[in-house]
Amino acid sequence: MRHENVDEKELEHGKRGEEDKEAMAMNLGEVLKDAESEGKENHLPVFEVNREEGVVRVVVGKDVPHPNTLEHRIAWIEVFGIKKGGEVVCIGRGAFAAGYTSPDVSFRVPVTEFKAFCALSYCNIHGLWQNCIEV
Ligand SMILES: [Fe+2]
Repeated sequence: MRHENVDEKELEHGKRGEEDKEAMAMNLGEVLKDAESEGKENHLPVFEVNREEGVVRVVVGKDVPHPNTLEHRIAWIEVFGIKKGGEVVCIGRGAFAAGYTSPDVSFRVPVTEFKAFCALSYCNIHGLWQNCIEV
């Protein structure tokens, strides 16, 4: 991926600046936060799995609600299932209207086909958070 700070000469000659090389060496795992990063606000996507009813629910801030304003909010939650053979399935995504919709999503899922579920949540101030649960 090209960055806006790469000038036209670098693009023409296929050269990359030092900043661009550093950016390319990063991977998403370096910026994902987990339970160890939690502060006074809750950001972690927390699971409730009902095997009998086949429902996977993911909530951010169930006990201590996260701010829900245009300036500071959980914008979305995305849920993935890890099948018993290791395949990753994107179960679904909830995108929330600031001030109106709480970060709380549920999906009907054949739970027994999966060995784990993982979720990402995105706070527009505090970044990307991850959590997984084995089932
Ligand atoms: Fe936040």
